Amino acid sequence: MAFFDWKEEYSVGVKRFDDQHKQLIAMLNELYDAMKGGKAGDVVKPILIKLVQYTKTHFAAEEQVMKAHGYPDYEAHKKEHDELAKQAASLLEQEQQGKAALSIQISNFLKQWLMDHIIGKDKKYGPFLNGKGVR
Ligand SMILES: [Fe+2]
Repeated sequence: MAFFDWKEEYSVGVKRFDDQHKQLIAMLNELYDAMKGGKAGDVVKPILIKLVQYTKTHFAAEEQVMKAHGYPDYEAHKKEHDELAKQAASLLEQEQQGKAALSIQISNFLKQWLMDHIIGKDKKYGPFLNGKGVR
């Protein structure tokens, strides 16, 4: 069993976003494994950078589709994305300055955030977007 397994209950009803969530989860597992294996910062850092970049790409994709279809909860949803992006950027910055002790806590934090966000926010756009023909 991986650190974080995608489950059917995480499905948001839009295939491209389920696929992106699976990709994020795979990257998070890669990060966790590197950290748990006590890999040096020069191994962990590129994984963290890649994860943060992919997260931004994913958020932008969701926001574009929600906005294009006039999703009513767009602003609140985007706000959650922005807050996480800010936290992730700060983590990355601290890490780059050698301040943050790279730890399992980062992986746990990101896992918890992603689970809460998918279930609490992403799953809500599913029926709305499906109604607009987005699947
Ligand atoms: Fe989202």
